[in-house]
Amino acid sequence: MNVLIVGSGGREHALAWKIAQSPRANRVFVAPGNAGSGIDCENVPIDADNFPALIDFAKQNQVGLTVIGPEGPLAGGIVDAFQLAGLKVFGPTKAAAELEASKIFCKELLRGANVPSAEYQTFRTAADAVRYLNDREDARVVVKADGLAAGKGVVVCSNRDEAILAVEQIGLEKIFGEAGNRLVIEERLEGQEASVLAITDGSTIVTLQPAQDHKPAFDGDEGPNTGGMGAYCPAPLVNDEIIAWIEEHVLVPTVHAMQRAKRPFRGVLYAGMMMTGQGPKVLEFNARFGDPECQPLLMRLKTDLLDLLEAAADGKLDAIAPLEWDPRPAVCVVMAAKGYPGHYEKGLPIRGLEEAAKLADVKVFHAGTKLDEKGQVVTSGGRVLNVTAVGESISIAKLNAYRAVKQIRWDGAWCRKDISDKAVGK
Ligand code: AMP
Ligand code: GLY
Repeated sequence: MNVLIVGSGGREHALAWKIAQSPRANRVFVAPGNAGSGIDCENVPIDADNFPALIDFAKQNQVGLTVIGPEGPLAGGIVDAFQLAGLKVFGPTKAAAELEASKIFCKELLRGANVPSAEYQTFRTAADAVRYLNDREDARVVVKADGLAAGKGVVVCSNRDEAILAVEQIGLEKIFGEAGNRLVIEERLEGQEASVLAITDGSTIVTLQPAQDHKPAFDGDEGPNTGGMGAYCPAPLVNDEIIAWIEEHVLVPTVHAMQRAKRPFRGVLYAGMMMTGQGPKVLEFNARFGDPECQPLLMRLKTDLLDLLEAAADGKLDAIAPLEWDPRPAVCVVMAAKGYPGHYEKGLPIRGLEEAAKLADVKVFHAGTKLDEKGQVVTSGGRVLNVTAVGESISIAKLNAYRAVKQIRWDGAWCRKDISDKAVGK
């Protein structure tokens, strides 16, 4: 079968790399992809939001399954468009992707389904939100734009001034545009975070092993929020008992509530969890694989990913055998451009990729890269490479990943040095 992956990040390179290992996969296309997906599979120069061109391509190239990576096209209705064209596609419909695309929809659904999550209020105007903050005694809150804001629409505040500033920036200055038309202010939860992802066809739920992301830019979780500076899997913080609890109290009730809301959810249900003193609580839902969590997850998954995703798209997940995993943990270190998550330069040549590729137990997934006119791999984004490795223990996986990082150079390249340290000693 020919397969099309839509998107251009490290997640999409990992999806393409893993699906290409399926004995059932013939040609694996990535649209638009990056330098790495172009080397391992075949890139197609069509943007992820150009639905008509993607549909034409899928029809002309006998694509049997299309897998959507990022949230933007999902929220824009790409799955509905493919289904209308009679094409098989993995991912939630526009109505189901609201679970990620509207934080207010998500909070209301969770409240209705009794799923543990932070207390919250919603606001249509910044003035109402400021009035609420002025009346509230404890202003250690989190201010969120309702809509999609490339993972940046959340401001965790320590006092009232910070919260009011966030409300004004999101709700008045509209730094995230329309996403800030409505606001959520919620209780600030304390604890460690974990990502629990599950594949679902709307009735059967197949939970993946837990992972942990590292969102702040610098070591020790300091600095500005990013799209994720590294991840590891499994996260020992979330043991089997907690996974079972999350399935029962979070995943199952959410899937049922989506069914009741006439928005059956098919795709990846990603629960961003906070392990609080009162038990696990949902921070957010995403409607897709996490990036970078997807990279260490797929490095360890032994089950045929094409079988798994096609079964979900067909509504036949109940026929899939229990997932098989490499018992070795995996660690993914994000190498970023100088200046990220602020302004950064593009087009810098990357050296050492061949040396890194020779190391055992390592896979370098590309994120923000492309080939220049000379066929040389150059940077083209803020998060540039996702260096992923497995090892007998989490410490050895970490060592393997950083050994590969050392081989790779470009002007200003940097990474966090402490990815997975939180897992050690658990
Ligand atoms: P989200 O996009 O909702 O995952 O938020 C991004 C990050 O903000 C999360 O990974 C958390 O670190 C933080 N966050 C979101 N909601 C809360 C909350 N209620 N309490 C504390 N931190 C939060
Ligand atoms: N790693 C966080 C996300 O994908 O939203």
